[in-house]
Amino acid sequence: MVTVALSGATSGFGLTVLRTFAANPGPHTLVLLSRTPQPEWTAKGVDVRPVDYTSRTSLVQALQGVHTVLSMIGASPEAMRDSQLALVAAAKEAGVRRFAPSEYAGAGGGYRDIDLYAGKGEVWEAVKASGMQYTRFACGIFMSIFATGTPKPVTEVGRAEGAESGEEEALAGLRPWSFMFNMLRGTADLPGDGSAKFAVTDTRDVARFVIAALDLDVWPAELGMRGSLLSFDEAVAIVGRVQGRKFLVRENSVAELEAGCEVPEKRFYNQVRLALVNEWGVVGDDLNRAFPDIRPVTVEDFVEKWWSGVEVGEPSWGKDQSFM
Ligand SMILES: NC(=O)c1ccc[n+]([C@@H]2O[C@H](COP(=O)([O-])OP(=O)(O)OC[C@H]3O[C@@H](n4cnc5c(N)ncnc54)[C@H](OP(=O)(O)O)[C@@H]3O)[C@@H](O)[C@H]2O)c1
Repeated sequence: MVTVALSGATSGFGLTVLRTFAANPGPHTLVLLSRTPQPEWTAKGVDVRPVDYTSRTSLVQALQGVHTVLSMIGASPEAMRDSQLALVAAAKEAGVRRFAPSEYAGAGGGYRDIDLYAGKGEVWEAVKASGMQYTRFACGIFMSIFATGTPKPVTEVGRAEGAESGEEEALAGLRPWSFMFNMLRGTADLPGDGSAKFAVTDTRDVARFVIAALDLDVWPAELGMRGSLLSFDEAVAIVGRVQGRKFLVRENSVAELEAGCEVPEKRFYNQVRLALVNEWGVVGDDLNRAFPDIRPVTVEDFVEKWWSGVEVGEPSWGKDQSFM
């Protein structure tokens, strides 16, 4: 039984971890670090500790008695670098034993290949040098890439979380996004020829695996988990079968992806796809094997749940298929 502090957990992916953890804390004590008061969580009995990431004193004080820090800080590359570097330094000073930085993507971090993740690389080096135990939770791409636009109604799961629509439930705290796959338009803008494999994991399952990993005595440097591991071609076949239409597919050669990296607003999108061609998305299944009772949602399950029976029109490319 340990005291676990979540940082960056009031929106996006972190909010799913907070909700999952608060619903079932097991033997652990939950602390929420946030830059603002969180009366809703205080009212639910969570020990909310407001923090100022620019103040070492504030952070060290908030981390008193904490054994493990799970950081889910997002928002911007600067926040992910500066606030996390401050958090690592303060955690070390406060005697924290374990630290998992805000990773939650591909194998090995991708710090050199993806500019926006360079700051994550600096944090990774700081964590490694800190003397705390650490791990990189790697889950591939979030399953919610297949969520945006679903018109299906909210289910009990979402209602319990306060979601007002099926889409909100399927997105699980994330903003609407279409990444490579556009489920409304019926398009797939693939890395390479579509044969590379990638892991896809629902954020609720990521949360379950991460919470389960608190029970491991020793954390290796990377802990992988997967809902599905499949090729892009296989994913295209699944979404096409469930939606009952043939997706428009664009293959993108390495040369095309490299050219796309030169366009500033498309740099991240193309750098990620280049990394995916090189199997950055193939993460391990360490947590699946360690916790076989956790049965993660597969791409097939997820797409069936949110798209089967939905009426969709003729597929068509949008003006800009890269990001929404
Ligand atoms: N694998 C994938 O497909 C995928 C997709 C999306 C994201 N991710 C990863 O998931 C992680 C979380 O991303 P997200 O998009 O969910 O994050 P997000 O919603 O943008 O932000 C999460 C939290 O960061 C905290 N925050 C914001 N600005 C901050 C600052 N300046 N200093 C400190 N904390 C700050 C906020 O917490 P408070 O306000 O409570 O302090 C906020 O709730 C990132 O590592 C991201 O790369 C992975």
